[in-house]
Amino acid sequence: MIKRQRSTLSVPGHLEKMHKKAFETSADVIMLDMEDSVPMESKRAAREQIILTLKNAPKRGISVRVNSVDTHYCFRDVIDVVHAAPEQIDSITLPKVDCAGDIHFLSRLLDGIETEMGTQYFIAIDASIESAIGVENIVEIATAPRVRSLIFGIADYSASIGAKLNSISGHGENELEIYPGHRWNFVMSKIAQTAKAHNLLAIDSPYGNFKDPQGLEKNAKLACVLGFDGKWAIHPDQIESINEVFSPSSEELKRANRILEAARANPGRGAVAVDGRMIDSATVRLAQKLVDSVK
Ligand code: COA
Ligand code: MG
Repeated sequence: MIKRQRSTLSVPGHLEKMHKKAFETSADVIMLDMEDSVPMESKRAAREQIILTLKNAPKRGISVRVNSVDTHYCFRDVIDVVHAAPEQIDSITLPKVDCAGDIHFLSRLLDGIETEMGTQYFIAIDASIESAIGVENIVEIATAPRVRSLIFGIADYSASIGAKLNSISGHGENELEIYPGHRWNFVMSKIAQTAKAHNLLAIDSPYGNFKDPQGLEKNAKLACVLGFDGKWAIHPDQIESINEVFSPSSEELKRANRILEAARANPGRGAVAVDGRMIDSATVRLAQKLVDSVK
């Protein structure tokens, strides 16, 4: 169901009004959340509301974020919600994944539900990396069953390594002002590189200031140039910009097609000059990837 995942809109599970709104947006994936956007006293209500929403949902990319495996909510989030509407769910987003065991636990639960129901639908797992230990164990997480994407959980990761809270939301604001370069370059590159090594998607955290379109665009472009495939949104107003940043522009496509044409016109030549610049087989592969991404 999910073809590309430029934008993922996080929607608090207990707020029905926002569910309606979410389905009117052009988010590639709608993520119905039972974790951090839902207060403790509303965990059960969120689960029940999500089931109702799923039962009436149109066919489109949907993920459900459950509570982390170290909470007593997690197993019931999975069993109740997946059991109620397995065919509507493309993936479970698992927060605070620290090791492959967390994924195995969820995957086994899904095995059991799928076998019991005799369902032919396959539910993937989106693993949110948001701790120092999660980064240390990233390869075993990436290669665990059902994992489809690695997500960078910026705020919890900052807390996990004891990094300074640099803004009101802790989600990516003012980063370029406090560190020469970008303080999350290492972990973001690690996530992107591991995801790509294992054929997974790399998805960036949300940008917390939903009234700052320029900051959002800058932040999204940074993830895009590092190799990320998409980014979370926490507000409908962020979706258009995220979709645009993670789609190739017409100039980029034009340039890529010119590179491919030049290579085709010079068969048997390793390197060719285009506009006084060298292009070789690696350039051609990059250009081909870009052209293929919109097919
Ligand atoms: N999904 C769907 N609809 C949303 C939405 C979301 N994530 N965030 C806001 N909306 C809706 C509002 O309900 C409102 O709808 P209305 O016009 O029908 O009244 C409209 O968009 C405008 O919202 P606005 O008034 O600008 O924002 P707010 O003050 O109501 O909410 C937040 C601001 C940040 C609290 C809200 O966007 C939110 O809860 N986001 C998700 C947070 C989250 O999921 N966090 C966990 C992941 S990090
Ligand atoms: Mg988190």
